[in-house]
Amino acid sequence: MAQKLRLAVLLSGSGTNLQSFLDRSASGTLNAQVVVVVSDRPGVHGLKRGELANIPTRVIDYGAHLERGREDWERLELPVDLRKLDEVQQILHFSDDAKRLGRLAGLVLAEDEMIRQVDAFQPDYIVLAGFMRLLSPYFLRHYNRGDMWRVLNIHPSLLPAFPGQRGYEDTFHYGVKWGGVTVHFADEGEDTGPIFAQAVYPVWPNDDLESLRRRGLQLEYAVYAQCINWLASGQVRFSRSSRGRTTVEILDPKYPEILKAWSVLACSDET
Ligand code: GAR
Repeated sequence: MAQKLRLAVLLSGSGTNLQSFLDRSASGTLNAQVVVVVSDRPGVHGLKRGELANIPTRVIDYGAHLERGREDWERLELPVDLRKLDEVQQILHFSDDAKRLGRLAGLVLAEDEMIRQVDAFQPDYIVLAGFMRLLSPYFLRHYNRGDMWRVLNIHPSLLPAFPGQRGYEDTFHYGVKWGGVTVHFADEGEDTGPIFAQAVYPVWPNDDLESLRRRGLQLEYAVYAQCINWLASGQVRFSRSSRGRTTVEILDPKYPEILKAWSVLACSDET
């Protein structure tokens, strides 16, 4: 019997991926339980979904933390050497030092609060499910150690195509004939971490953005839940490619069948 993992789910919006975890956890098809739901925005529907399932919810006021960083980062007591962090971070690219460091300080303040809130629930994994904030190395190094990758993300495109905040829009407007979804471990770049699993869906000629998003989301729910089950059953191995990149191997003998099932699901609505 696979171990039940403890998940901290971070989100910024409607939380349909969270709902899929909650439903599958309740029906016993997810070997995990959501122990806390965290949002960077108050009032989002994802928080309501957590409350309805009696899961503790927390809001981290990113707006207020970023504002503080912007105004007086040099006087703030930060849990990290900001200039050293700036040397290694890969997410903020403003050439104006004061602007970049202020933004980084704000992120660190928000992340420090988030770490304290999340760690109180002792999660095994931090699961990003539509969390629309960039995470700095301060947060990621707290959870990722060597080959212990503990932060997962789902991205609505076939990475490395279309990283960023608008995966479905970019897929649709580019005119690609297959879209995709990617579950990956979060590293310190934007959507660049080791790829865990991917699935593709067709883009039909009469699709609009919403039909494409619906098809992709159905696939997201299936792929994300499967990845968590693979982690729960220890069927995941990390190795290093000859180019130095961390790669993820899935040891499940049913892997080919599962990939085929995802393709069938993706092609099941030829509307
Ligand atoms: C999902 O499509 C997810 O892949 C995407 O946000 C949506 C959240 O939907 N994430 C990103 O774009 C991350 N860059 P949900 O709130 O209904 O789960």
